[in-house]
Amino acid sequence: MRLFTRMSDAISIAHTSAESSPACRNAERAASLANVTRLLAAQLGARPISVYEAGGGSTSYIPLGGLSVSHITLVDIDPRQVDRNDIANETIVGDLQTIELPAESFDLVICYNVIEHLPRLPQALQRLARVVKPGGLIVIGAPVPLSLNGLAARFTPHRVHVWICKHLLKWPDAGKPGCAPFPVAYHRLVHPGRLQAHMKMFGLQPVYFCAYLGSLIEEIARKNPLLGRLLISAANVASRAAFGRLDLLRGDFHLVLRKL
Ligand SMILES: C[S@@+](CC[C@H](N)C(=O)[O-])C[C@H]1O[C@@H](n2cnc3c(N)ncnc32)[C@H](O)[C@@H]1O
Repeated sequence: MRLFTRMSDAISIAHTSAESSPACRNAERAASLANVTRLLAAQLGARPISVYEAGGGSTSYIPLGGLSVSHITLVDIDPRQVDRNDIANETIVGDLQTIELPAESFDLVICYNVIEHLPRLPQALQRLARVVKPGGLIVIGAPVPLSLNGLAARFTPHRVHVWICKHLLKWPDAGKPGCAPFPVAYHRLVHPGRLQAHMKMFGLQPVYFCAYLGSLIEEIARKNPLLGRLLISAANVASRAAFGRLDLLRGDFHLVLRKL
């Protein structure tokens, strides 16, 4: 069953039926990604579209299969990530905070798990807004700052992030050059409400928002069940103490914006 609620201006679709993709074992995330995919197909239709992967790294999590993609441009600051990418027609090693791409040149801009890494986020957001065509969409995926994973990332140093990825999540390449985790900056605009308000200045209207079970917590719970249960219990206690106004488990969000 679907439950539609209002969160800021965008429609929030929470607790959708778990349509999980084989690549994603976080059912809430998979369900939200499925909603995003349907929305992209409905809004962009079958016409050929140009896509900009901003901070695209080595791969893309937004399924583009249902769209008629004519060209993908990928920009990333790390040349090793760019070399590994498996999706783009054109790659540029560049900084999202300074790069100048032609105005109104993309139908779809994707910026997934990147904004939390940008210390000069307003400059990057202004550039993303500038390059999307009128009627085009921007998809942003990012962590919720007031969540278990958001708080852990903001208030511990980078070497702790590397340790968590290496030892708790068992990522073999964690911390190696060009590999996750990447250093975080958590500008104040990495916040769903503030981000939506900021993007309105550029004529970008939110059309979809969903906060879902944080990927970090889901992965910890899968790989280290005891620690996962402890963290989830602690988050539930905090939520009850805050009379349900605090949800530390919904640690990541999807936001889709449409340019007027
Ligand atoms: C967590 S990865 C996400 C990659 C990809 N979007 C994904 O979802 O798998 C963050 C990416 O942001 C890139 N990045 C960090 N700062 C950047 C900047 N200032 N300009 C461009 N890319 C940047 C990193 O090199 C890395 O590839």
